[in-house]
Amino acid sequence: MEEIIIRPYRQEDRLLVREIAWNTALMGEPAALFFDGKEVFTDFLTGYFLDYEPESCFVAQVNGRVSGYLLGTRDSVLLSRVFRDKILPRLLLRAIRKGIFLKKKNLIFLAKCLRAILRGEFKMPDFSREYPATLHINLNRESRGKGCGSKLMIVFFDYLLNSKVSGVHLATMSEKGACFFEKHGFGLLHKGKRSYFRHVLHRDVPLYIYGKKL
Ligand SMILES: CC(C)(COP(=O)(O)OP(=O)(O)OC[C@H]1O[C@@H](n2cnc3c(N)ncnc32)[C@H](O)[C@@H]1OP(=O)(O)O)[C@@H](O)C(=O)NCCC(=O)NCCS
Repeated sequence: MEEIIIRPYRQEDRLLVREIAWNTALMGEPAALFFDGKEVFTDFLTGYFLDYEPESCFVAQVNGRVSGYLLGTRDSVLLSRVFRDKILPRLLLRAIRKGIFLKKKNLIFLAKCLRAILRGEFKMPDFSREYPATLHINLNRESRGKGCGSKLMIVFFDYLLNSKVSGVHLATMSEKGACFFEKHGFGLLHKGKRSYFRHVLHRDVPLYIYGKKL
């Protein structure tokens, strides 16, 4: 029998959480498939949550080892503001210093993102008033399908209720992830598509925005 423990994030989990984020960024597959620059990309994925709101983050420990996480925020408007004003400028400087913009893999990916922005793929309604919280959830491959994800969600919902947060929304490109969120009572708020992984996946991917009232 495997022992699964869900507990609040602690500072000493940082390296393992960042490792999982890097290894699962593309719908559960490694970010290395489309990006060259582990530290910078992992800062992009986890920076706000681990540095500015660690109290809203939880980990799943399987047989004593951190194997998954739920990185959350109570206030997605604050997240966007901190990301734009504090995290992004530092990230850009760091990326320049590390030569991130000189690497072919990154140039291809960033060019695809730019094209997607110009085509309006990033335009979407704002759900942060009705559903202020948001989250990212990822597990190592070997820890999936054992109930860890469900346990993380339940702990996070309790935390949000205790914090008097009235709703939570999230984005996923994963059809499998979409099934999981529907099982947890999320309803579809918006569906779009993303083209910037076409050179890796050879297809466009759907972008689902889900919401749940608490
Ligand atoms: C999605 C994820 C968080 C689910 O966590 P999990 O621990 O594997 O899921 P659970 O074992 O708690 O499953 C809960 C329910 O969701 C369903 N579910 C979970 N993963 C599923 C999948 N890949 N496809 C379809 N249904 C799925 C299960 O069938 C289960 O239903 P049941 O209770 O009726 O048996 C995890 O599999 C994961 O990290 N996947 C890779 C990354 C990802 O997709 N992240 C989320 C999207 S951003």
